[in-house]
Amino acid sequence: MCGIVGILGKEPVADNIVEALRRLEYRGYDSAGVATLTSHGIERRRAVGKLKNLASLLAREPLEGTSGIGHTRWATHGGVTETNAHPHTVGDVVVVHNGIIENFRALKDELIADGAVFTTQTDTEVVAQLLSREMKRGRAPREAVKAVLSRLHGAFALAILFKGENDLMIAARNGPPLAIGHGNGEMFVGSDAIALSPFTNRITYLEDGDWAVLTHHSVEIHDADGKPVKRPMSFSQASTMLVDKGNHRHFMAKEIEEQPEVIGHTLAEYVDFAEGTVRVPEKLPFDFAALDRITITACGTASYAGLTAKYWFERIARLPTEVDIASEFRYREAPLPKNGLAIVVSQSGETADTLAALRYCKQQGQHTLAIVNVPESTIARESEMVFRTYAGPEIGVASTKAFTCQLTALACLAILAGKLRGTLTLEQERELVSALIMAPRQMTEILKEEKHIADVAREIANARDVLFLGRGLNYPIALEGALKLKEISYIHAEGYAAGELKHGPIALIDENVPVIVIAPHDELYDKTISNMEEVAARGGKIVLLTDDHGMTDNEHKAFRSIRVPKAHPFVSPLLYAVPVQLLAYHAAVFIGTDVDQPRNLAKSVTVE
Ligand code: F6R
Repeated sequence: MCGIVGILGKEPVADNIVEALRRLEYRGYDSAGVATLTSHGIERRRAVGKLKNLASLLAREPLEGTSGIGHTRWATHGGVTETNAHPHTVGDVVVVHNGIIENFRALKDELIADGAVFTTQTDTEVVAQLLSREMKRGRAPREAVKAVLSRLHGAFALAILFKGENDLMIAARNGPPLAIGHGNGEMFVGSDAIALSPFTNRITYLEDGDWAVLTHHSVEIHDADGKPVKRPMSFSQASTMLVDKGNHRHFMAKEIEEQPEVIGHTLAEYVDFAEGTVRVPEKLPFDFAALDRITITACGTASYAGLTAKYWFERIARLPTEVDIASEFRYREAPLPKNGLAIVVSQSGETADTLAALRYCKQQGQHTLAIVNVPESTIARESEMVFRTYAGPEIGVASTKAFTCQLTALACLAILAGKLRGTLTLEQERELVSALIMAPRQMTEILKEEKHIADVAREIANARDVLFLGRGLNYPIALEGALKLKEISYIHAEGYAAGELKHGPIALIDENVPVIVIAPHDELYDKTISNMEEVAARGGKIVLLTDDHGMTDNEHKAFRSIRVPKAHPFVSPLLYAVPVQLLAYHAAVFIGTDVDQPRNLAKSVTVE
């Protein structure tokens, strides 16, 4: 979950490394560091906290050197201290690392028995210690790396420099992504192509098990067996612009507001506006009509997009659909049917558990389809087919626009499945597509209510616990609303299927517990309202999210209400996602938390 960068440059590199790290800060932000090779040997600057602390340190104490590596950290082993911040150096070696060395304890014991003295609590120091020991035994850098890589278990990406070797960097990948950027007489390494976008768009992605020996003018790649291999170079589309907040106070606010536009971009890919039907950009590698089951795996918010899709696939395409969180699925050894389709959903396309679930499904002979936002990601590259979402870069750690774009792509896929399985007539297809086409405009109407929603958010910001209730397609939105609120405001929140309330959670209700009821006026409206009445009877503070029709009947029973445009029930999750995002956002702003980079989290979870 950390971000790593390495540059063999022509000019002093420290500032460029910080520039690249800025684009990787979404991967972790509890400390950062840079090391360069200077006339004094290996020199480092490291600082606890956001990258700006490292930038100010470098302004006060600049670093010379045209070869360097850098790191932004999301702590796994060892607390957030300057000592534990990367890069880590032992002897003539300096290392940055993303991932986890699973056998670090055994390796550390072995090294200590051999006389090594450890100065940090990190697993990474084991790598530096092992390399240093190999070099003390007389091995040249590349032989040392080869020997050490064979001893490491786990998921890792590494960039390594060696004292006195200004024209050498070694990078290795086993799990987390690693991109090599080709410059003119310069060479770059980064956790993703966006980090390298200010310097080059000529990118080679290392495959799992690869390690690369880089000089200013050359790249030699070896596979896990040490055999030289060729990996293709591609032209990255990663934008050179560092995405900025515009007039917004936070990226999250900007990303919530962008939703009508990016939903439109996603629809443009999967909908034929003239015909009012769905279309697929490329030929499907499987036959929807022959499928027996869909298995959807994902993590967090992306898994709630998957859960929503279950309702769509089952109802519209009569296709049995299982949804599982990837961290559970990957070790459960679930039997999968012969004619099965596995769908993975991921904004980053790098989530370790989701990637493992994808690989398991491939091994089990499933067709695979990824709904991803980052087209160059590992999940996109390893899937049989990709349904891209067009959310654009999502910087706020809490996912918003990526979620609604995932819903949009999945909705189109479900319509397509219904059409190809013969469970949807052309007329019905057109009805659903036209509901989707209207969604961006309806979202804009909700965004106009932001001031009112902010007032409601202020009312819940003092609560200790908040419940979210929803039914059917809006049950996943209740889960998502609770996740958004807890992750950015740190208020404890839970989402429940409204009908499940009386099986336990209703015991939590008293006059201090706000209950957000998501109740579009659809076929389940009366049932949800009955559950709302049960809460009201026990003094719970109801915040009712519904449309005009729902308001007429029941607004008076709520403590506060938020009006959502009347829409086709099929698209209601897309619309109701917006007010729950805004409630979480404004509660967090009111409380004063770090909205874009909430504590303990990272944007891309590349460790399990
Ligand atoms: C919550 C959030 C996370 C992610 C999850 C999966 O706001 O963003 O729950 O949805 O970590 O990440 P991706 O979609 O990158 O696989």
